[in-house]
Amino acid sequence: MALKVVGGSASVPLARGIAKELAVPYVDVAFERHPGGFPDGERYVRLLGPVSGDHAILVQTTHPDPMIVEFLLLADALRDAGARRITAIIPYFGYGRQDKRFLEGEAVSAKTIAKHVAVDCDELLTMAIPANPEILKTFPLPTREVSGMPAIGRYLRSSKVDVVLAPDEGALRLAKEASSVAGVPFDFLVKERIDSYTVKIEPKALAVRGKSVGIVDDVISTGGTIAMAAKELKAQGARRVIAACVHGLFVDEAEGKLRTCDDVIATDTVQSKHTKVSVAPEFAGAIRALGY
Ligand code: R5P
Repeated sequence: MALKVVGGSASVPLARGIAKELAVPYVDVAFERHPGGFPDGERYVRLLGPVSGDHAILVQTTHPDPMIVEFLLLADALRDAGARRITAIIPYFGYGRQDKRFLEGEAVSAKTIAKHVAVDCDELLTMAIPANPEILKTFPLPTREVSGMPAIGRYLRSSKVDVVLAPDEGALRLAKEASSVAGVPFDFLVKERIDSYTVKIEPKALAVRGKSVGIVDDVISTGGTIAMAAKELKAQGARRVIAACVHGLFVDEAEGKLRTCDDVIATDTVQSKHTKVSVAPEFAGAIRALGY
Protein backbone atom coordinates (compact mmCIF):
# COMPACT_ATOMS: atom_id res chain seq x y z
CA MET A 1 0.00 0.00 0.00
CA ALA A 2 1.54 3.32 -1.04
CA LEU A 3 1.67 6.01 1.63
CA LYS A 4 0.38 9.47 0.63
CA VAL A 5 -0.11 12.62 2.69
CA VAL A 6 -3.10 14.97 2.38
CA GLY A 7 -3.41 18.24 4.28
CA GLY A 8 -6.50 20.21 5.28
CA SER A 9 -6.28 23.98 4.96
CA ALA A 10 -5.44 24.41 8.68
CA SER A 11 -2.34 22.24 8.29
CA VAL A 12 -0.91 22.44 4.75
CA PRO A 13 2.69 23.44 5.67
CA LEU A 14 2.90 20.76 8.38
CA ALA A 15 1.37 18.11 6.08
CA ARG A 16 3.87 18.97 3.34
CA GLY A 17 6.66 18.78 5.92
CA ILE A 18 5.51 15.30 7.02
CA ALA A 19 5.39 14.11 3.37
CA LYS A 20 8.91 15.45 2.88
CA GLU A 21 10.22 13.78 6.04
CA LEU A 22 8.69 10.47 4.96
CA ALA A 23 9.74 11.00 1.31
CA VAL A 24 6.21 10.11 0.10
CA PRO A 25 3.84 11.94 -2.31
CA TYR A 26 1.71 14.87 -1.19
CA VAL A 27 -1.81 14.96 -2.65
CA ASP A 28 -2.93 18.50 -3.39
CA VAL A 29 -6.44 19.61 -2.43
CA ALA A 30 -8.59 22.39 -3.90
CA PHE A 31 -10.38 24.26 -1.13
CA GLU A 32 -12.50 26.52 -3.34
CA ARG A 33 -14.74 25.64 -6.26
CA HIS A 34 -14.89 29.26 -7.33
CA PRO A 35 -12.45 32.01 -6.31
CA GLY A 36 -13.45 33.30 -2.88
CA GLY A 37 -15.33 30.13 -1.91
CA PHE A 38 -19.02 29.87 -1.04
CA PRO A 39 -20.50 33.21 0.02
CA ASP A 40 -21.98 31.64 3.16
CA GLY A 41 -18.55 30.35 4.30
CA GLU A 42 -19.27 26.62 3.85
CA ARG A 43 -16.17 24.54 3.14
CA TYR A 44 -15.36 22.74 -0.12
CA VAL A 45 -12.68 20.12 -0.78
CA ARG A 46 -11.57 18.24 -3.87
CA LEU A 47 -8.67 15.78 -3.94
CA LEU A 48 -6.46 16.61 -6.91
CA GLY A 49 -4.61 13.28 -7.05
CA PRO A 50 -5.46 9.57 -6.92
CA VAL A 51 -5.51 7.69 -3.59
CA SER A 52 -7.23 4.47 -4.68
CA GLY A 53 -5.73 1.50 -2.83
CA ASP A 54 -3.39 3.81 -0.88
CA HIS A 55 -2.77 4.47 2.78
CA ALA A 56 -3.64 8.14 3.26
CA ILE A 57 -2.29 10.26 6.10
CA LEU A 58 -4.83 13.03 6.64
CA VAL A 59 -3.34 16.00 8.49
CA GLN A 60 -5.77 18.60 9.79
CA THR A 61 -6.04 20.59 13.01
CA THR A 62 -9.66 20.77 14.21
CA HIS A 63 -9.58 24.48 15.03
CA PRO A 64 -11.27 26.83 14.31
CA ASP A 65 -14.67 25.16 13.90
CA PRO A 66 -14.86 25.14 10.05
CA MET A 67 -11.68 23.06 10.06
CA ILE A 68 -13.64 20.23 11.72
CA VAL A 69 -16.06 20.19 8.81
CA GLU A 70 -13.14 20.24 6.38
CA PHE A 71 -11.58 17.29 8.19
CA LEU A 72 -14.81 15.28 7.85
CA LEU A 73 -15.19 16.20 4.17
CA LEU A 74 -11.60 15.15 3.44
CA ALA A 75 -11.87 11.84 5.32
CA ASP A 76 -15.08 11.02 3.45
CA ALA A 77 -13.60 12.09 0.09
CA LEU A 78 -10.54 9.88 0.73
CA ARG A 79 -12.76 6.85 1.44
CA ASP A 80 -14.95 7.55 -1.61
CA ALA A 81 -11.80 7.84 -3.73
CA GLY A 82 -10.75 4.35 -2.60
CA ALA A 83 -8.13 4.97 0.13
CA ARG A 84 -7.67 1.60 1.85
CA ARG A 85 -6.37 2.95 5.12
CA ILE A 86 -6.62 6.43 6.66
CA THR A 87 -4.42 7.62 9.49
CA ALA A 88 -5.66 10.89 10.93
CA ILE A 89 -3.08 13.30 12.26
CA ILE A 90 -4.92 15.98 14.23
CA PRO A 91 -1.99 18.15 15.34
CA TYR A 92 -4.14 20.37 17.58
CA PHE A 93 -7.23 18.54 18.75
CA GLY A 94 -9.73 21.41 18.93
CA TYR A 95 -12.63 20.53 21.28
CA GLY A 96 -10.24 18.25 23.19
CA ARG A 97 -10.58 20.32 26.34
CA GLN A 98 -13.73 18.76 27.79
CA ASP A 99 -12.94 15.17 28.74
CA LYS A 100 -15.63 14.75 31.43
CA ARG A 101 -19.29 15.46 31.98
CA PHE A 102 -19.28 17.94 34.87
CA LEU A 103 -22.99 18.76 34.69
CA GLU A 104 -25.80 16.52 33.56
CA GLY A 105 -26.67 17.08 29.90
CA GLU A 106 -23.23 18.36 28.85
CA ALA A 107 -21.50 17.04 25.74
CA VAL A 108 -18.06 15.51 26.36
CA SER A 109 -16.58 17.34 23.39
CA ALA A 110 -13.33 15.33 23.08
CA LYS A 111 -15.39 12.15 22.78
CA THR A 112 -17.78 13.77 20.29
CA ILE A 113 -14.97 14.70 17.91
CA ALA A 114 -13.22 11.32 18.31
CA LYS A 115 -16.45 9.48 17.50
CA HIS A 116 -16.75 11.33 14.20
CA VAL A 117 -13.04 10.89 13.35
CA ALA A 118 -13.53 7.13 13.80
CA VAL A 119 -16.23 7.02 11.09
CA ASP A 120 -13.65 7.08 8.28
CA CYS A 121 -10.25 6.89 9.96
CA ASP A 122 -8.43 3.76 11.15
CA GLU A 123 -6.16 5.41 13.71
CA LEU A 124 -5.44 8.81 15.17
CA LEU A 125 -2.24 10.63 16.11
CA THR A 126 -2.44 13.88 18.02
CA MET A 127 -0.23 16.14 20.11
CA ALA A 128 -0.64 17.66 23.60
CA ILE A 129 -4.42 17.26 23.77
CA PRO A 130 -5.66 20.01 26.12
CA ALA A 131 -7.21 17.45 28.50
CA ASN A 132 -6.15 14.49 30.58
CA PRO A 133 -4.33 12.31 28.00
CA GLU A 134 -6.05 9.27 29.57
CA ILE A 135 -9.11 10.30 27.50
CA LEU A 136 -7.27 8.98 24.42
CA LYS A 137 -7.67 5.42 25.72
CA THR A 138 -11.45 5.82 25.60
CA PHE A 139 -11.55 6.95 21.95
CA PRO A 140 -13.25 4.50 19.57
CA LEU A 141 -10.12 4.09 17.40
CA PRO A 142 -6.46 3.40 18.19
CA THR A 143 -4.94 6.73 19.28
CA ARG A 144 -1.43 7.85 20.15
CA GLU A 145 -0.15 11.08 21.61
CA VAL A 146 3.01 12.34 19.92
CA SER A 147 5.23 14.71 21.88
CA GLY A 148 6.16 18.12 20.48
CA MET A 149 8.80 18.63 23.17
CA PRO A 150 11.77 17.40 21.09
CA ALA A 151 11.06 20.22 18.59
CA ILE A 152 10.69 22.82 21.35
CA GLY A 153 13.73 21.46 23.21
CA ARG A 154 15.84 21.79 20.03
CA TYR A 155 14.77 25.43 19.65
CA LEU A 156 15.55 26.20 23.30
CA ARG A 157 18.95 24.50 22.99
CA SER A 158 19.81 26.60 19.93
CA SER A 159 18.62 29.71 21.82
CA LYS A 160 21.04 28.75 24.62
CA VAL A 161 18.55 28.91 27.52
CA ASP A 162 19.99 28.18 30.98
CA VAL A 163 16.83 26.72 32.48
CA VAL A 164 13.36 25.53 31.42
CA LEU A 165 10.32 26.50 33.50
CA ALA A 166 6.83 25.00 33.64
CA PRO A 167 4.28 27.75 34.43
CA ASP A 168 2.15 25.21 36.32
CA GLU A 169 2.29 21.64 37.55
CA GLY A 170 0.29 20.50 34.50
CA ALA A 171 3.16 21.54 32.23
CA LEU A 172 5.80 19.85 34.39
CA ARG A 173 6.13 16.71 32.26
CA LEU A 174 6.53 18.92 29.16
CA ALA A 175 9.20 21.08 30.80
CA LYS A 176 11.08 17.98 31.98
CA GLU A 177 11.16 16.55 28.47
CA ALA A 178 12.09 19.85 26.77
CA SER A 179 14.83 20.49 29.35
CA SER A 180 16.39 17.09 28.79
CA VAL A 181 16.53 17.78 25.01
CA ALA A 182 17.94 21.27 25.70
CA GLY A 183 20.40 19.78 28.19
CA VAL A 184 19.54 22.22 31.03
CA PRO A 185 17.73 21.95 34.41
CA PHE A 186 14.00 22.62 34.87
CA ASP A 187 11.81 24.17 37.55
CA PHE A 188 8.08 24.89 37.92
CA LEU A 189 5.58 27.36 39.30
CA VAL A 190 2.24 26.62 40.94
CA LYS A 191 -0.69 28.28 39.20
CA GLU A 192 -4.20 28.81 40.41
CA ARG A 193 -6.79 29.41 37.70
CA ILE A 194 -9.47 31.87 38.85
CA ASP A 195 -11.48 31.77 35.58
CA SER A 196 -10.83 31.36 31.83
CA TYR A 197 -9.13 34.77 31.71
CA THR A 198 -7.49 35.10 35.15
CA VAL A 199 -4.66 33.14 36.75
CA LYS A 200 -2.65 33.60 39.95
CA ILE A 201 0.83 32.27 40.61
CA GLU A 202 1.98 31.19 44.07
CA PRO A 203 5.12 32.96 45.29
CA LYS A 204 8.25 30.82 44.83
CA ALA A 205 11.96 31.70 44.74
CA LEU A 206 13.58 30.61 41.45
CA ALA A 207 17.31 30.48 40.67
CA VAL A 208 16.99 32.66 37.56
CA ARG A 209 18.94 35.87 38.30
CA GLY A 210 20.88 36.87 35.17
CA LYS A 211 19.69 33.74 33.34
CA SER A 212 17.95 33.04 30.07
CA VAL A 213 14.75 31.07 30.77
CA GLY A 214 12.47 29.10 28.45
CA ILE A 215 8.87 28.82 29.69
CA VAL A 216 7.17 25.78 28.19
CA ASP A 217 3.42 25.10 27.98
CA ASP A 218 1.08 23.01 25.88
CA VAL A 219 -1.20 25.89 24.83
CA ILE A 220 -1.03 29.67 24.82
CA SER A 221 -4.62 30.82 24.62
CA THR A 222 -5.25 34.23 26.21
CA GLY A 223 -1.59 34.44 27.21
CA GLY A 224 -2.51 34.93 30.89
CA THR A 225 -0.52 31.95 32.18
CA ILE A 226 2.68 32.79 30.32
CA ALA A 227 2.38 36.52 31.09
CA MET A 228 2.15 35.84 34.84
CA ALA A 229 5.13 33.46 34.73
CA ALA A 230 7.21 35.87 32.60
CA LYS A 231 6.44 38.76 34.97
CA GLU A 232 7.54 36.64 37.93
CA LEU A 233 10.76 35.62 36.15
CA LYS A 234 11.63 39.21 35.27
CA ALA A 235 10.83 40.31 38.84
CA GLN A 236 13.30 37.68 40.08
CA GLY A 237 16.02 39.00 37.76
CA ALA A 238 15.80 36.74 34.68
CA ARG A 239 17.82 38.30 31.84
CA ARG A 240 15.82 36.80 28.97
CA VAL A 241 12.46 35.01 28.78
CA ILE A 242 11.45 32.83 25.85
CA ALA A 243 7.84 31.60 25.86
CA ALA A 244 7.42 28.33 23.97
CA CYS A 245 4.22 26.40 23.38
CA VAL A 246 3.04 23.54 21.21
CA HIS A 247 -0.29 25.13 20.23
CA GLY A 248 -0.34 28.91 19.81
CA LEU A 249 -3.94 30.16 19.74
CA PHE A 250 -3.18 33.75 20.83
CA VAL A 251 -6.79 34.81 21.45
CA ASP A 252 -8.11 38.20 22.56
CA GLU A 253 -5.38 40.39 24.08
CA ALA A 254 -2.70 37.68 24.10
CA GLU A 255 -0.20 39.65 21.98
CA GLY A 256 -0.26 42.60 24.39
CA LYS A 257 0.11 40.36 27.45
CA LEU A 258 3.09 38.55 25.93
CA ARG A 259 5.14 41.74 25.51
CA THR A 260 6.98 40.88 28.75
CA CYS A 261 8.60 37.99 26.84
CA ASP A 262 11.72 38.53 24.72
CA ASP A 263 10.68 35.81 22.27
CA VAL A 264 7.45 33.85 21.74
CA ILE A 265 7.51 30.65 19.75
CA ALA A 266 4.93 28.06 18.79
CA THR A 267 4.98 24.95 16.62
CA ASP A 268 3.10 24.50 13.35
CA THR A 269 0.19 22.55 14.89
CA VAL A 270 -1.63 25.91 14.66
CA GLN A 271 -0.27 28.44 12.18
CA SER A 272 0.48 31.92 13.52
CA LYS A 273 3.15 34.57 13.25
CA HIS A 274 4.87 32.83 16.18
CA THR A 275 5.15 29.49 14.36
CA LYS A 276 8.91 29.03 14.37
CA VAL A 277 9.39 25.28 14.77
CA SER A 278 7.92 22.33 12.93
CA VAL A 279 6.75 19.10 14.50
CA ALA A 280 6.88 17.34 11.11
CA PRO A 281 9.88 15.21 12.25
CA GLU A 282 7.95 14.13 15.36
CA PHE A 283 4.82 13.07 13.41
CA ALA A 284 6.90 11.41 10.67
CA GLY A 285 8.76 9.47 13.38
CA ALA A 286 5.41 8.35 14.85
CA ILE A 287 4.21 7.16 11.42
CA ARG A 288 7.46 5.19 10.98
CA ALA A 289 6.99 3.71 14.46
CA LEU A 290 3.59 2.40 13.32
CA GLY A 291 5.57 0.30 10.86
CA TYR A 292 5.09 2.20 7.59
C1 R5P B 1 -3.87 24.79 31.10
O1 R5P B 1 -3.67 25.13 32.24
C2 R5P B 1 -2.89 24.85 30.00
O2 R5P B 1 -1.79 24.06 30.27
C3 R5P B 1 -2.43 26.26 29.64
O3 R5P B 1 -1.60 26.75 30.68
C4 R5P B 1 -3.56 27.18 29.42
O4 R5P B 1 -4.50 26.63 28.54
C5 R5P B 1 -3.06 28.48 28.86
O5 R5P B 1 -4.14 29.36 28.74
P1 R5P B 1 -3.94 30.93 28.77
O6 R5P B 1 -2.95 31.29 27.72
O7 R5P B 1 -5.32 31.46 28.47
O8 R5P B 1 -3.50 31.27 30.15
